[in-house]
Amino acid sequence: MKIDPHKLVRAAAKAREGSVSPYSRFKVGAALLTPAGKVIGGANVESASYGLTCCAERIALFKALTDGQKNFVAVAVVARCDGGPMPCGACRQLLAEYAPDAKVLVADRDDLNTLQSFTVRGLLPRAFRLTS
Ligand code: THU
Repeated sequence: MKIDPHKLVRAAAKAREGSVSPYSRFKVGAALLTPAGKVIGGANVESASYGLTCCAERIALFKALTDGQKNFVAVAVVARCDGGPMPCGACRQLLAEYAPDAKVLVADRDDLNTLQSFTVRGLLPRAFRLTS
């Protein structure tokens, strides 16, 4: 599957528009790419009980997984943030479980053409697993 990183980043920027972030006002968008070329977007959703907030990466992942998608070649994450937003630890764990082979592309909303590229394995080496 050939990845068009700029296209996926633009999809994440579009998904970011769905952010529900009245408390932090920090909008984050994520877009997952499947081997068949399907793109699934998500954005962060916050709660007045702050700990219930869910990150954009996990919203996108949960949408995709519950839609029956099982394999992911890349995930893009976009926020208004220098260099682009790095996925938090919780999202790295979920990505390690469900998108272990994915590339992670991050970009600043105000500079979508400048991408940083990582791998899920590189962002969370030795991820927690139940089985050995
Ligand atoms: N957030 C994400 O959507 N992804 C991350 O990887 C880290 C943080 C969101 C959660 C919250 O709504 C806002 O950013 C500020 O923490």
